[in-house]
Amino acid sequence: MDLDRALRLSLAVPGGTAGRLRPAASAGALHPVRAHLLLGPGCPLPPGRYAYDPHTHRAHPRGPAPADAPPGAVVVLTVTATRTVAHYGHRAWPLLLLDAGHAAAALALATAPADVFVSFDADGVELSTAAGLPRAGAWQDRWPGTDPELSLAAAWLPLTGAPAAPARPLAAWAAPPHTAVPKPRPDATTAPSRELAAARHLLDHLAAAPGDIGGTWHAAARPAPVTDGTLLTRRSAAPADLTHPPAPDLLARVLATAAEARPDGPAWAAAVGGDAPGLRTTAGRLATGDARPALARWAAGQRWIGTAGAVLLAHGCPADAPPAQVRRGHLAAGYAAGLAQAHATALGLRSRPIGSWQQADLGEALGDAPGHDWILHGLALAGPPEQDGPPTPYP
Ligand SMILES: Cc1cc2nc3c(=O)[nH]c(=O)nc-3n(C[C@H](O)[C@H](O)[C@H](O)COP(=O)(O)O)c2cc1C
Repeated sequence: MDLDRALRLSLAVPGGTAGRLRPAASAGALHPVRAHLLLGPGCPLPPGRYAYDPHTHRAHPRGPAPADAPPGAVVVLTVTATRTVAHYGHRAWPLLLLDAGHAAAALALATAPADVFVSFDADGVELSTAAGLPRAGAWQDRWPGTDPELSLAAAWLPLTGAPAAPARPLAAWAAPPHTAVPKPRPDATTAPSRELAAARHLLDHLAAAPGDIGGTWHAAARPAPVTDGTLLTRRSAAPADLTHPPAPDLLARVLATAAEARPDGPAWAAAVGGDAPGLRTTAGRLATGDARPALARWAAGQRWIGTAGAVLLAHGCPADAPPAQVRRGHLAAGYAAGLAQAHATALGLRSRPIGSWQQADLGEALGDAPGHDWILHGLALAGPPEQDGPPTPYP
């Protein structure tokens, strides 16, 4: 297993501590996602728990592996909320989930063509226990003054091909006895604001799985044109460079990647302008009329969205959805957008994720009952001017 390559192409900061740009996108470039490696037999490092440092691209040992650890690696993805909440206030919690989804996509893309499975519903307590982390509520007692890590998602590289169902890669890691493992990295923080405490509490609540705590693990695949080079060169384009409509066939391919990314993910549609404005799905036309001006208002008034070449939208998730669905929907939306952005990059398209949706009730706007079909995430797409040629009508 080439874990070194997978981490270098997904989570590592290419320029080390000075670098700001990474393979995965992140709201406000704040990069709140951390990775813990649970390595069983057959990995390039001795079995054990490790904390991954993306700045140095090193794995720091944090404790032994259980004797019955399965072959292969599990990567537990956590988020620290402090900086994102300081930046986005009460709008931070969906962004933290979306960011974790983007990081999971980066990891899945970088691992391919080796087998990799991703779970967005493994119980948060089992994930934290497996990674040797306290749960959010117990964090301050154990490591006072440090930024709690909230466990949200995991990727599994089993080494043995497709696993037999039901797969429980975390079970051995989370089983007692729990050895005390050291804090991954000292990062003293000040006392949390009410907003920060609320965001942490909400994410902890969302990550508590209601039923099968082992989680469901879905195989990940890399869209065909994506290469290792694509992963290292992906960038979010400046809004001013996102005005040219993408070629319809390329838009359709990227939309299909987003829509097919996860069986447990939200629905996807594409808002386009031009001569035949409307909302399209992989199955055909969802609505006519230019949705982009409304999208610009809903996305915290980001006016550039009103003239973006096209905007992919993840939508679903009713207002009264159970916590597990809210978590899974946002993680899967970020994940699908991550795959779609890589695919767009490989096709020569420009792109930029859009995360700050406010009261974006797509269902109500399309004439359905309010509160049932919210926009969770977006990805603006555009063609480079030099590749455009004469405009092609949308089918
Ligand atoms: C979940 C998420 C939400 C984002 N939301 C917005 C947004 O609302 N508006 C925007 O201009 N950029 C948004 N971005 C793009 C980030 O600002 C961008 O990823 C970051 O600056 C890092 O740049 P890079 O993607 O080129 O690595 C978002 C990115 C992510 C992952």
